[in-house]
Amino acid sequence: MSPYRIDITLRPPVRFQASIPNFTMVTMSNILTILLINSDRASRTVIADLLSRCRRPVEVSASVASLQEGMKYLESDTPPQVIVLEAQSIAQGVRDISAILANNPHAMIIVTSMEKHPDWILTLIRAGAGEYLTTPINTEELDDAVERTARMLDQKQGVDETRGKIITVYNPSGGMGTTSIAVNLAATLSAKGEMTTLVDLNPFSNDITAFLDLTPAYTLSSLQETVGQIDASFLMGIMTKHASGLKVLCGPEEVGAVVGITPNQILNLLTLVKSQFGVTIIDTGGSLSERNLETFNGSDIILYPLTLTLPALNNARRYLKALSRLGFGPDRVKVVVNRYLPKDDIRISDAERILGVKSFHTIPNSYVEIKESIYKGTPLVVGYPRSLVTKALTELTSRTMAELSNGSH
Ligand SMILES: Nc1ncnc2c1ncn2[C@@H]1O[C@H](COP(=O)(O)OP(=O)(O)OP(=O)(O)O)[C@@H](O)[C@H]1O
Ligand SMILES: [Mg+2]
Repeated sequence: MSPYRIDITLRPPVRFQASIPNFTMVTMSNILTILLINSDRASRTVIADLLSRCRRPVEVSASVASLQEGMKYLESDTPPQVIVLEAQSIAQGVRDISAILANNPHAMIIVTSMEKHPDWILTLIRAGAGEYLTTPINTEELDDAVERTARMLDQKQGVDETRGKIITVYNPSGGMGTTSIAVNLAATLSAKGEMTTLVDLNPFSNDITAFLDLTPAYTLSSLQETVGQIDASFLMGIMTKHASGLKVLCGPEEVGAVVGITPNQILNLLTLVKSQFGVTIIDTGGSLSERNLETFNGSDIILYPLTLTLPALNNARRYLKALSRLGFGPDRVKVVVNRYLPKDDIRISDAERILGVKSFHTIPNSYVEIKESIYKGTPLVVGYPRSLVTKALTELTSRTMAELSNGSH
């Protein structure tokens, strides 16, 4: 497959409309300064308007028809950080990119062009462009390109706050609501405008594909089949986009294929998602395999869902103890009581006594809403924004994010 996506869909971006309580975002909010170079005045107006709607606050410092006109801004004491440059030919594009970088080696360049031929993309990316967008520009593609560009800039400038966070949802035996929680955390964050991805590393099931009614062209198998390291373009190319805009790395169709993924490949994957997304949610299960331990090692927080039954509690007690011995103690592993019924024989206080840790959060039993949302392939935050279970999942998201921004992770 080509590592570069050439997506010129004109579909407007679909973002969740549900009202979500505020919580602290991980991403930085510094304003990006942009120089817009495009020979067509109407296109400049359209692009400037699209840029103003990006999640990352931007300021179009100047909008000019040619690089020649833009030179005075590039040579100023405070040159723009990002140049959105029109390429009308490969030669002009390469020439302009070289001139910009010669002047300001730290500039980030987003090329816009009507041409979608891979030769153009490869040549201009090799010349030093960071992103390549075909026109007419897709709003969502531009938004993602700006976000990635901003992250690269933050990294170059050593800004640590933008290091993406990883939240793993794990239960070894399954059936505890791991996928329900992972999907809804990711959907809530994405609806809130956080750059989020959802990764299915569960060795037994391929649930996320079904939960979100996705038809992936590529899955984790592509990672497994790759010899050597993958890069960010490859990663973005194997993701599947949900109608909400959420990017998902689906599990392989073949049973057991996740097991073939090496800890090194996991490390490669985690490093990349951290560089590309504000938050990554991982759904996993199974034993304390090397693959899972590598995942936990890269995770800022591990949510451990369980139901209040004796077998589930007994298993949780053993696994929490083992995790703690391996260095993943209660500061990182948080118990989430799922399918809670106030009239349960076993109370939360009983569970806390058996497990020796406090429950981090409780999600009520809500059979109908959960079943319907899976059936429709729609996260609860979209389908049932006002239900009690959605409220509990949204609170879990806020609480987890608050825990992450407390700085201990
Ligand atoms: N809060 C809840 N209320 C009612 N039903 C729930 C709740 N959470 C999950 N369920 C149901 O429990 C079942 C298991 O949930 P889910 O698939 O999310 O768990 P899992 O741990 O990912 O399981 P698996 O082992 O299949 O991967 C599903 O049928 C789901 O509808
Ligand atoms: Mg599951």
